[in-house]
Amino acid sequence: MTNATISIDGKAGEYPVQSGSAGPDVVDIRKLYANTGHFTFDPGFTSTASCESKITYIDGDQGILLHRGYPIEQLAEQSSFLEVAYLLLNGELPSKTEHDEFKYLITRHTMVHEQLATFYRGFRRDAHPMAVMCGVVGALSAFYHDSTDIHDPQQRVIACHRLIAKMPTIAAMAYKYSVGQPFLYPDNSLSYTGNFLRMTFGVPAEPYIINPVVEDALDKIFILHADHEQNASTSTVRLAGSSGANPFACIAAGIACLWGPAHGGANEAALNMLREIGRPERIPEFIARAKNKDDPFRLMGFGHRVYKNYDPRAKVLGAAATKVLDTLGISDPVLDTARELERIALSDDYFIEKKLYPNVDFYSGIILSAIGFPTSMFTALFALARTTGWIAQWTEMMEDNDQRIGRPRQLYTGYPRRDYVPIDQRS
Ligand code: CMC
Repeated sequence: MTNATISIDGKAGEYPVQSGSAGPDVVDIRKLYANTGHFTFDPGFTSTASCESKITYIDGDQGILLHRGYPIEQLAEQSSFLEVAYLLLNGELPSKTEHDEFKYLITRHTMVHEQLATFYRGFRRDAHPMAVMCGVVGALSAFYHDSTDIHDPQQRVIACHRLIAKMPTIAAMAYKYSVGQPFLYPDNSLSYTGNFLRMTFGVPAEPYIINPVVEDALDKIFILHADHEQNASTSTVRLAGSSGANPFACIAAGIACLWGPAHGGANEAALNMLREIGRPERIPEFIARAKNKDDPFRLMGFGHRVYKNYDPRAKVLGAAATKVLDTLGISDPVLDTARELERIALSDDYFIEKKLYPNVDFYSGIILSAIGFPTSMFTALFALARTTGWIAQWTEMMEDNDQRIGRPRQLYTGYPRRDYVPIDQRS
């Protein structure tokens, strides 16, 4: 092992440099404060590895995303969401028997406590589905108290299965509540994604026919959103979990973080932006706004903290968007606007210099909209899929013997100590 020397005020100290199986080495500075009395300063964690993980690897410069070593393109093309969920949780692709057992276990947890339906009725009908999801998922610990003992490995596994299984039911119920239609119970004879489509768009009065192209595209979207290393919401889940909070509470925290427009909310924002642009002729106006330092406008669905190359997920979705729209016979000018916007932005010096490429959110909204989801449901679908990654990362953390409560420090720039002044003596 090599060491890095950090010298402060003429006093040098040695810090071990650790190598992972891929990606940059890290300088282990855990002893820095004890040795020197200094903290490191890294707002936004641009240079900080917050944990050790074996789940997901991203090479942002090359545009590579691997889950347990498998490239995302291969998983999106050849696997299924449920198999990817197994892979993220267990580290290996399942054998046929393991796959069937996992499917059986997940299927047995798809229903939600009947009283949860009453819980939904406490929300306004026009509540954003993400507001409902935060509340309902947080409430799961009140309904499933028998899987909240985080020190019991068996309870941890049951909580994982419950979360993966119930998220489609919960998201579909959020949708049904918003449109005033009756909730549909899960149909366990269907695939994970087919079941979700039926619970969302089916009605009790008639059978729901699943379109295999739509089912396949949505399953791909779920695979592409399943995990993404230590992003903001995953770090939130880990930080919440580091205090010993139960997994349902941790996932609710992740959902809250995902909601922001810089993170999961960008898919909704991207489609709204494309609709606002409306037609290819207006693109230059929006490109100019995105480049204007005095305008807070950004091209939504463009740019990424880690990818400084084409987001591999956006590639898969760009192709899927054409297929879904063709199959459904939809001619959406938004897709033409998106393709043209991508073409113009990728040949513009501003975007080239800053290495801003389309990200996963650029095309996903077009597909989701063609399937029939309102924009307000987009981030809820992201949360549904990302729950698998969150819970896999939470499990990994719980099994890590080095795990301690997350407690960042700060660079304090407020007042130093000063004495209290009684109110009648303040100027
Ligand atoms: N449009 C125009 N300029 C941009 C954009 C954009 N979409 N993204 C970054 N820039 C500029 C930014 O103004 C800055 O310029 P300068 O160096 O002159 O100040 C430079 O590029 C670097 O940006 P940054 O904000 O420092 O980069 P970041 O790593 O902190 O932010 C980001 C990453 C994803 C928040 C940002 O690119 C963004 O806001 N994109 C739009 C929102 C979006 O699509 N988010 C989805 C992310 S992918 C899904 C997910 O992981 O949840």
